Amino acid sequence: MQALQLFEKLEPEFALIDLNPKVAEFACEVIKGLRLSQKRISPKFFYDQKGSELFEKICETEEYYVTRLETALLKKHAAEICRHLDGMTLIELGSGASEKIRILLRQIRELVAYVPVDISKSFLLESAARLQKDFQELSIIPVCADFTLPVDLPALPQFQGQKAAFFPGSTIGNFDPQDATLLLKRIGQMVGVGGHLLIGVDLVKPLGVLEAAYNDSHGVTRDFNLNLLARMNTELDADFDLQGFAHRAFFSEEFNRIEMHLVSLKDQSVTVGESSFEFRKEETIHTECSYKYTRDRFLALARSAGFELKDFWTDPDLYFGEFLLEFRPQASAGLKRSGSESR
Ligand code: TRP
Repeated sequence: MQALQLFEKLEPEFALIDLNPKVAEFACEVIKGLRLSQKRISPKFFYDQKGSELFEKICETEEYYVTRLETALLKKHAAEICRHLDGMTLIELGSGASEKIRILLRQIRELVAYVPVDISKSFLLESAARLQKDFQELSIIPVCADFTLPVDLPALPQFQGQKAAFFPGSTIGNFDPQDATLLLKRIGQMVGVGGHLLIGVDLVKPLGVLEAAYNDSHGVTRDFNLNLLARMNTELDADFDLQGFAHRAFFSEEFNRIEMHLVSLKDQSVTVGESSFEFRKEETIHTECSYKYTRDRFLALARSAGFELKDFWTDPDLYFGEFLLEFRPQASAGLKRSGSESR
């Protein structure tokens, strides 16, 4: 469905571009997902205002190393990274609290505009307003959108020049490899040939470290997972019993991914609006995957989407990787079918 495009005047500093999915689509997707034999709900629905706040808390837990490692990498290599981004329009996908970008903004000489894209409208606006206070000269163009769908940026002059995308937090790991390739291709089209992508990817590491990161001892991740049920109760007129479900996260060696589920603690039936669903005891709703890559496996994925490696930074343990990629679709297509003009 074509996304609705709406400009909303907010504060004198910036106008929100709202391409947000409607509640009806949330309901449709949930009902479709709960009818599958392995019940499933997309992780993008975690991020209402409360979910976005809980996610920020996950990032502060001792066990969740991802944010800390990526922040350290960005700080350490900011000067080098910024050389590639100078003078561009920088589009961040899943910008959340827009914290990591501050590290780059402190170093960068000039940006045409910073474009935070996030699914949670209220959280996006708060974060953009906070950022604007601290970076008064910066042109900020917040876009509320579901970037798992094609995002039609309006024809503003800021989108006509050189573009770079910033996709931190290993959010790419939350997509199955096929969807990840498709998303990278779309990002490529968005930044254009010669455009850049700075992307943070969580790497394979010992099982204990991985599983602890999604089972923090303060139960913030549990609350975050269960908030999805609370959100459906409020927004979709559902009647999930929050005591009747538990959080479960584990690493699957077979798929190289963390899987997160909500486990039904009893046989029960739940209604969502007019629809009703049966749960057996121990039956789960699969709410998230978080794929873990090696450097080379991620590069193969990026290349299949038309990106070439420009630079790579990691920590001494090789726990997290920050890749700087350039969209060169012809070059990589040429490798596969040399002499062919087809794309
Ligand atoms: N991109 C993050 C990751 O996979 C998202 C994430 C971290 C997350 N912890 C979570 C999502 C817990 C849901 C629940 O690491």
